Amino acid sequence: MSQRRFLVTAALPYSNGRLHVGHVAGAYLPADIFVRYLRSRGDDVRFICGSDDNGVAIEISAAKEGTTPAELSGKYNARQKIDFDGLGIEFDIYGGTHQPDFVDYHNRLCQEFFKANFDNGHFVKKTSEQLYDAEADKFLPDRYVTGKCYQQMSDGSPCEHPAANGDQCEHCGNSVDPLLLINPVSTITGATPQRRKTTHWYLQLDKFQGMLTDWFSLVSLGWRPIVTNFAMGSIKTGLPERAMTRDLTWGVPVPLDDPDAAGKVLYVWFDAPIGYVSFTAKLCEQRDGDWQKYKDWWQNPDCKIYHFIGEDNIVFHALTWPAMLLGSHYTAEEIQVRGSTYTAPKEQGHYQLPTNVVANAFLNIKFPGKEEEKISKSRGTAVWIQDYLETFDPDPLRYYLTINAPEAQRTAWNFDDFVERNNAELIATLGNFINRWQKIVTNHFERKVPDADRAEQLEADLLASIRALPDQVAEDIEATRFKSALGRIMEGFRECNRYIDTREPWKTRKTDLPLCGTTINTCIQAVRTLGVLLDPFLPFAGEKIRATLGLSRDQWTWPHATDELPAGHPLGPTPEVLFRKLDPAEFEQG
Ligand code: MF3
Ligand code: ZN
Repeated sequence: MSQRRFLVTAALPYSNGRLHVGHVAGAYLPADIFVRYLRSRGDDVRFICGSDDNGVAIEISAAKEGTTPAELSGKYNARQKIDFDGLGIEFDIYGGTHQPDFVDYHNRLCQEFFKANFDNGHFVKKTSEQLYDAEADKFLPDRYVTGKCYQQMSDGSPCEHPAANGDQCEHCGNSVDPLLLINPVSTITGATPQRRKTTHWYLQLDKFQGMLTDWFSLVSLGWRPIVTNFAMGSIKTGLPERAMTRDLTWGVPVPLDDPDAAGKVLYVWFDAPIGYVSFTAKLCEQRDGDWQKYKDWWQNPDCKIYHFIGEDNIVFHALTWPAMLLGSHYTAEEIQVRGSTYTAPKEQGHYQLPTNVVANAFLNIKFPGKEEEKISKSRGTAVWIQDYLETFDPDPLRYYLTINAPEAQRTAWNFDDFVERNNAELIATLGNFINRWQKIVTNHFERKVPDADRAEQLEADLLASIRALPDQVAEDIEATRFKSALGRIMEGFRECNRYIDTREPWKTRKTDLPLCGTTINTCIQAVRTLGVLLDPFLPFAGEKIRATLGLSRDQWTWPHATDELPAGHPLGPTPEVLFRKLDPAEFEQG
C-alpha cells in the first residue's frame, strides 16, 4: 500500500456555546473515525479544527453574557477542546480564528485571499441600502436581524419560517438577503429597522457558475446525495453575488486602501473556511518549523482535502469556498474564457479544490416519554458533551452516534435506544465475546495463545469471513459509509458468538483440551482482526483489546489486521470492564 496524503477538516464550531451530541454526530465524530482509519492504514494525514470566533453570532452572545467577544470566544474555545478530548476526538491542532496564537496568521491569510480575489477582478464595490437600527446606531447584518423567510423549500413550496436569520434560514437551509425578509426586526433592540446606505464588496459568484458546475459534476460522483442534491439545487437556482464585507468591528479588517473600507471587516463566512488554512500554517510552524509549509497540503495536487460538515454548511463548502479558491487563482477574464470547463491546477502553488465534502443531516432528540424534537439550546433540548461525560464513557456515545448516524437523513438521539444498544450490542455482543474465552485461557493455557492443530472447516470458514472484513470495511470508510462499516464489524462479532456457541469451549476444556485450545486460538485470531477494525470507531475499547492481546501499537494497524498470532504468543491481562451496563433510570432524573 502506498502512502497517500490527506488533509481533513471538521467545521469550525462557533465559540459562543458548548458542544452537544448534534455537533458531534454531524461533523466531528465521522471526521475522527476517518482520520484514525487513515493513520491506521499508514497514510500521511493532518486533522484540522478550531473555533469560528468572528462575526455577529459571537458579538450577540458576548453582549448577552455581558462580556467581550475576545473573552467569550476564549472561554468556549477552551471548553470545546476539553469536550473533544474527552470524546477521543484528536485533532492535530485546535485553533481559533481570533485566538491569540492564531489571529496573526489567520488575518494575514484572509487578507491575502481577499486581495487575490480582488486583484483577479472578482469583487464589485456597491453602495446600497441596508437595514439599520437607529436606536442601537448600528447596521444590522446577518443575525442582527430576523424575519419571515421568503425562500422556497427544496420541493418548491414557500418556506415562510417566522424567524429566519438575516444570513441564512435554518428551516429551508437557504441563504437569505436581509432586505427581502418579511417584517424584519432588529435582534438588538427589537426595533423595526430603517434603511440606510452603506458600501460593500460583493463576490460575483454568478461568474463562477459554469466552472463550478463542471468541477462539481466531475468531482462529486462518490459524494453523499445529501450534499450533491443540495449543491445541484443551488446551482440550478443560480448563484447570487454575495457581500463579503460587513459593518462590524469584530473580525478581519478589510485590506483595501479605500476610505469606504475603513472600520469594516470581512464576512465571517469569508474568513471562517480560511481558518482551515491558517490553522494548518500554525501546525506547520509547530511541526516543521515553517508555517509556509501549509502549501504542501493546500496547494499540492497530490493531497486529498476532505471537509466534514453539518447539513447547514453545504452551500458554503461545496460552492462558495470552491469559488473563493478558484478566484484566488483565475482572473475574471480567464474564468470567462474557460466558460464551463474546469481543469484542476496541476502545478504546485495553487489552491486545490476539495476532494470531498462530507455532510450529515441534523440529529434530533427524543427524551423518554416525549415526542422526537429538534435540538435547541434555547428550549434546553440538547445533550451537552460536558454533562454526558460526567456520567458516561465516550465509546458508547461514539458507537450510538455512528450506528445511528444521520448520513442520509435525520435520525434521533433516543435515550431508551441508547441504553438498549449499549446493553444489547456493546455489552452482550462485543464485550461478551472478548470475555467468554478469557477465564479459560488463563486457567488452562497460562494466557498464551493455544495451538490450533485441531482446526476444521468451521474454523477456516470463520477466519476467512473475518479476514475478508478489512477490505470491505476499508471500502465503506473510504466511501464515507461509516454506519455500514461499523455494522459489518458488529456482524463479525455476532458470527464469532455463534462460532463459540457451537464449539462450547467451556465444555471441551474438561473433555478435550486440544479441541478447546483450537477454539480459543480461533477466537483470538478473530479478535485480533476485529479489534484493529474497531479501533477507529471505539478507540478506548480498541486500546483495551490491544492490551489484552499483548500487542504493541505498531502491530495494531490496518496492514497487520490479518496477521496470525502464533501459538505461544503471551497475552496481556484480562481487560477491566470494557463497557458498563446502563440502567434507563440513570436518565430519568433528566
Ligand atoms: N461556524 C459554522 C457553523 O457552526 C461552521 C463554519 S465552518 C468553516 O455553522 F468552514 F467556516 F470554517
Ligand atoms: Zn426558509
